[in-house]
Amino acid sequence: MNPSQPEHLYPQFERMLSRQERETRLGQRSHVFWLYGLSGSGKSTLAVALEKSLFAQGRIVQVLDGDNIRTGLNSNLGFSDEDRTENIRRIAHVAKLYAQSGLIVITSFITPREDLRQLAREIIGPEDFSGVYVKASFEACAARDPKGLYAKVKAGQVKQFTGKDSGFEEPAAPELLIDTERESIEQSLEHLLAYATPKIVR
Ligand code: ADX
Repeated sequence: MNPSQPEHLYPQFERMLSRQERETRLGQRSHVFWLYGLSGSGKSTLAVALEKSLFAQGRIVQVLDGDNIRTGLNSNLGFSDEDRTENIRRIAHVAKLYAQSGLIVITSFITPREDLRQLAREIIGPEDFSGVYVKASFEACAARDPKGLYAKVKAGQVKQFTGKDSGFEEPAAPELLIDTERESIEQSLEHLLAYATPKIVR
């Protein structure tokens, strides 16, 4: 059942300003860099570092981050397979709206399954989407434990935790892999910048 009855909806696109007009004004090409990986792998740190670096170059960038979205737009969602799908579906639509406004978007969500990454890619459009696997082992993330979550998991206080009792699928062929166990934040940022720059230059 679709409560919005799509046969009675008339989305308007032609009369709006085009994405190209907005991109021209901003002097950039929109793109969505979709960072995914375990909690504590470094996604948010890298998203913010990339945002700052691109902003310093004069780009207009928007970061969408797991904990922010989950306390607002997606506050009614938990961590079941179904809720994670709905979480990613909504975020992908938000990212697409930003991209249509001419912005560069950096998202930071665990996105634990291949079908979720595929869903985001389909919603956003493959030409505007780059998946970036931010890789660190469960053990490394647990040792970092920036939010104290892994300690809570160990104490049995967090259910359906990714990498423990909820799965994380390694990507079969990641477009870009950033290994935060092997490289420093500065090195990771350099890789990200080298990858991102040709996609956003007009
Ligand atoms: S996703 O799986 O649906 O992509 P998302 O990135 O939005 O997850 O949210 C993950 C964040 O929620 C984590 O960084 C962590 O701070 C918090 N969190 C709380 N409970 C869990 C849980 N059971 N599994 C994973 N992350 C959790």
